Amino acid sequence: MRRIRKFGEEILRKKSSPVDNIDGKIHELIKSMKETLLYVKGVGLSAPQVGVLKRIFIFYDKEKEILGTIINPEIVEEISSYVDLEGCLSFPEIYFTIERPKITVIKGLNEDGKEIIIEGKELLSRCFQHEIDHLNGILIIDYAGEEEKRYYQDKIDKLIKNSKK
Ligand code: CO
Repeated sequence: MRRIRKFGEEILRKKSSPVDNIDGKIHELIKSMKETLLYVKGVGLSAPQVGVLKRIFIFYDKEKEILGTIINPEIVEEISSYVDLEGCLSFPEIYFTIERPKITVIKGLNEDGKEIIIEGKELLSRCFQHEIDHLNGILIIDYAGEEEKRYYQDKIDKLIKNSKK
C-alpha cells in the first residue's frame, strides 16, 4: 500500500520522466499501485500520485474486470467529446465538470515491455486522459470553472492546509 498524495503536495505538479528500464523496482511499484487502487476502489492511479515521478499509470477496466498497466503512454487518437463530473483520488469528495474525448486510443508498454494499443470509451477514455494529465502535472482543478471552485473552496483550502503540515 502506498500513501496517495493530495492536492497541495508539490509532487503532483511535477512532470514525470519516461521509464527506460522495466526492472524489479518498477514491477514492485506497479504491484503496490494495484494494491492501493483496489483498496480505495478507484478507476485509475498514476505513479506521481504515490510519490514516484515516472510515466506509469494503472486503470480498472470495469467491462473486462481487469487491472491494466501502461508505461510511457501516448495518445494516438481522440474521437468526439462529452461532459461529465470527474473526481480524483488526490481530491477527495470533490468533483468538477470536465469535457473529455468520448474515445481515447493510447499506446505504450505493458509490464513486460511489450507495445500495446488500448481503446478507452467514455469512463475509460476519461481515465486515460486524466491519468496522462497527472504525468504532466495537470490536475482536475485546472479545468474547473470559478463557480465550481467556489462551491468546493472549504475542501480545497483544507487540502492545501494539510499539505503544508
Ligand atoms: Co487523479
